[in-house]
Amino acid sequence: PKFLKSRKERQSLPAWEERETILKLLSKHQVLVISGMTGCGKTTQIPQFILDDSLNGPPEKVANIICTQPRRISAISVAERVAKERAERVGLTVGYQIRLESVKSSATRLLYCTTGVLLRRLEGDTALQGITHIIVDEVHERTEESDFLLLVLKDMILQRPSLQVILMSATLNAELFSEYFNFCPVITIPGRTFPVDQFFLEDAIAVTRIVILPSVHQDTSKYEQGSVKDQVPDQQLDFKQLLARYKAWPGKLSFLDTKFSKSVIKTMSIMDFEKVNLELIEALLEWIMDAESPGAILVFLPGLAEIKMLYEQLQSNPLFNNRRSNRCVIHPLHSSLSSEEQQAVFVKPPVGVTKIIISTNIAETSITIDDVVYVIDSGKMKEKRYDASKGMESLEDTFVSQANALQRKGRAGRVASGVCFHLFTSHHYSHQLLKQQLPEIQRVPLEQLCLRIKILEMFSTHTLQSVFSRLIEPPHTDSLRASKIRLRDLGALTQDEKLTPLGYHLASLPVDVRIGKLMLFGSIFRCLDPALTIAASLAFKSPFVSPWDKKEEANQKKLEFAFANSDYLALLQAYKGWQLSTKEGVRASYNYCRQNFLSGRVLQEIASLKRQFTELLSDIGFVMEGLRASKKANSNADNPKLISAMLCAALYPNVVQTKIRMKPKSEELKFVTKNDGYVHIHPSSVNYQVRHFDSPYLVYHEKIKTSRVFIRDCSMVSVYPLVLFGGGQVNVQLQRGEFVVSLDDGWIRFAAASHQVAELVKELRGELDQLLQDKIKNPSIDLCT
Ligand code: CDP
Ligand code: MG
Repeated sequence: PKFLKSRKERQSLPAWEERETILKLLSKHQVLVISGMTGCGKTTQIPQFILDDSLNGPPEKVANIICTQPRRISAISVAERVAKERAERVGLTVGYQIRLESVKSSATRLLYCTTGVLLRRLEGDTALQGITHIIVDEVHERTEESDFLLLVLKDMILQRPSLQVILMSATLNAELFSEYFNFCPVITIPGRTFPVDQFFLEDAIAVTRIVILPSVHQDTSKYEQGSVKDQVPDQQLDFKQLLARYKAWPGKLSFLDTKFSKSVIKTMSIMDFEKVNLELIEALLEWIMDAESPGAILVFLPGLAEIKMLYEQLQSNPLFNNRRSNRCVIHPLHSSLSSEEQQAVFVKPPVGVTKIIISTNIAETSITIDDVVYVIDSGKMKEKRYDASKGMESLEDTFVSQANALQRKGRAGRVASGVCFHLFTSHHYSHQLLKQQLPEIQRVPLEQLCLRIKILEMFSTHTLQSVFSRLIEPPHTDSLRASKIRLRDLGALTQDEKLTPLGYHLASLPVDVRIGKLMLFGSIFRCLDPALTIAASLAFKSPFVSPWDKKEEANQKKLEFAFANSDYLALLQAYKGWQLSTKEGVRASYNYCRQNFLSGRVLQEIASLKRQFTELLSDIGFVMEGLRASKKANSNADNPKLISAMLCAALYPNVVQTKIRMKPKSEELKFVTKNDGYVHIHPSSVNYQVRHFDSPYLVYHEKIKTSRVFIRDCSMVSVYPLVLFGGGQVNVQLQRGEFVVSLDDGWIRFAAASHQVAELVKELRGELDQLLQDKIKNPSIDLCT
C-alpha cells in the first residue's frame, strides 16, 4: 500500500509524462541530456524509470545505476527519499555513498554518490565494470568535478559502448552539453509552476521617500553611476518602521512612482552591500507573517555564519522564538546538517504555523521544499575563487548571478503563486549581476585537478595541456601553467609532468596542495596536532584580530605569544591558551579572546577544520586510531624548529631572504623574493621589530600590497629545512672547492660544511621519497615509525 500510494504521487510529477520518450531515446542513443525545471522529478524519478524498466527484462540485464550529486547532503536526502518511494529501507536497492560514509549493499542497483566519490572510484576501477548507467546530475552547476567527470565519460563511452550516460540539468544551457557529446538528443521536461511576483530593494525602499528623498535631492549628480562610493551618505534606514508604513497601504507593493524610484535605484546601485542586511530580513519576515495568505518562507543567505546569526537574532524576537512562539518554526538548512535535521525541513507544519527555512544556495536547485510561497533572496552566495595574495583557493561572498536569482525566485511558485523579494535593486540586477556564474574551473587554482588527472590511468600518458584543452570550457592556459609550476615547486610533479609519490598522496586529499603537504608531513614527522592547527588557520584565516583603532595594542598582545620568530608558532600558543580557557567555560574563553585580541569564531572554525582534516588523513591511512597512536603522532609536537621546517615543506617557494642580518636603527629591512622584487615585513608580524636575524630566511604564506608589498605572517627558518623539504629536488655540486647544495629551481643554495653533509641532505630526501612510495603500494604501513 505504501508503494502504491507514493507511486500515485510520483505519477503526478512532470517527469512521468516523458517516461516513455526517455526510455525510447535511451534504447537508441548512448548519451542523453535531460533538462527540466527544478522539482519536476529528474533526480528522484529518472533513475527509477531506468531501473524499473530493466526489471522487465532478463535478470542479467538488470540496470546498475550510479547517479552523481554535487553535494553530500543531496546524495543522502535523495537516496532516502527514493528508498521511501519504493517502500524500502535505504541501503538495499537504493543506496548512497559519500566520502567517509556509505550505505549500500550487494543488492544496491541505484547508487547516489557525490561526484568526488565516483572520481575516486575511477582511480582503481577505470572501466567501471558492472555499471550500466551513469547519470550526472546538476551538470548546469558546472563544478570543477562535474566538468572533469564529463571529460572522463567522453573518453569512456568510446571504450565501453554498453555504458549509457545521462546528463541532467536545470533549464539552463542544455545545448552546450549536447554539443559536447556530439550533439546527442536533448529532452526538455515542461515545467509546471505558478506565477511569482518579484520585488526588488527599491520596492521595499519606496515607502521611505520621506526619509531618503531629502538627501537624494541634495545633489543628485553625486549618485550617478560610477561616482565615488565614499560620498554616499550613510543612510541609517529604520526598515522596521518603513515596512510598518508599507503595510498601511492596502495597495501594497505596486504603487511605485517611477521617477522617484529611479533616483532611489541609482543611489542604491552604487552602494556596495558588503554585508547582508539581517535587520531588513527580520522586518520582511514580520511583514510576511502578517500578510493575508500564509505559506512557508525560504530565506537565502550566503553561508553558515549568516544563518546562525539570523537564527540567533530571530530567537530574541518573541514572534519568532522557537520555544515561546507557536506561530512559526524555523529550520536552518545547510550542507553540514544531519539527515534527520534535514528531513525536518520537508515536514508540513500544523495550520496556523509558518515554516521559515534559512538556507544557503543548497535550496536553489538541490533540495526542493514544496510548500514555499515566499522567497527572500539576500542576493549573496559563497563562491570559490583564486586568492592571488595567498596563491590559493578561498571561499568568498559574492553577488549571485541573474540565473541564480531567477532560480531562487522560482522556488516560491511550486504549489501556488508566490512572492519573491530580492535584496538588491532591479538596476543592480540588470546592470551589475553576471548573466551566469563563471564555471568553477575558470575561477579556481588547478593544482588539485592536475593531480587527479595524473592519477587516472586513462590520462597518465597525456600532457595536462592536452587533457585540459578537451574540457567543456577550458580554463585559461596561464592558469594551468601557474598551477604546474606550483606543483613542481612543491615536489608533487616532476619536470616532465610525472606524479611523484608525494603528488600521489596529495591527489587523494581534497584540500589545497600546500595545506595537504603540511598535513602529511605533520603526520610523518610526528607533530600532527600543531601542523593541523596551522594548516587549518592557513586554509581559513588567522584568529588574531586588529581593530583599526587598537592596532598597536593588538600587535603588542600578539608579541606576548611570540615564539621562535614565528607568527605561526605564536598562533599555536594562542590556540593552546584558548583550548585551556574553553575548559573553564564560555565566559572564560570569551574573556581570553577579548583580552588577547583573538576571534572566538575563527578559533572555533579552526577547531572544526582540524577535526575534518584528521578524518581525511585517517581515510588515507596517515592517522592511526587510538590513544597510543595519537601520542606517538605528537611526540615532536613541542619542537619549534621542526614545526618551522614543516612550514618550509608546505610554503616553498614562498621564502624571502635578507642580505643584512642586523637591522639598522630606524630603518626597515628589505627582503628579496624569488619572483617579484622586494618586500617588507608587515607591522602585525612578530618579526617586525626583530633587530637581529639569526637566519636570513623567512617563509611566509601571504603577500599583500598596500602602500608597499608586505609579507604578513612569517617564520624564520635556517637553510637546512629549506633544502630538505623545499622544491622538487636537490643538487650537490663541487664549486671552487666548496660543496654547494641547491634546490633545482636555483632559488636556495648554500655551501655545505663538508661533502658528507651535502650527501646526507640528498640521502634524507631520497629516503623520504622512498617512504612515500612504499606507502602507495602498502597503505597500511605507518610512516610515523
Ligand atoms: O531533480 P528535480 O529537481 O527535477 O526534482 P526531484 O528532486 O526529483 O523532486 C521531485 C519531487 O520530489 C519534488 O516535488 C520534491 O519536493 C519531492 N522530494 C521530496 O519531497 N523529498 C526529497 N528528499 C526529494 C524530493
Ligand atoms: Mg534534482
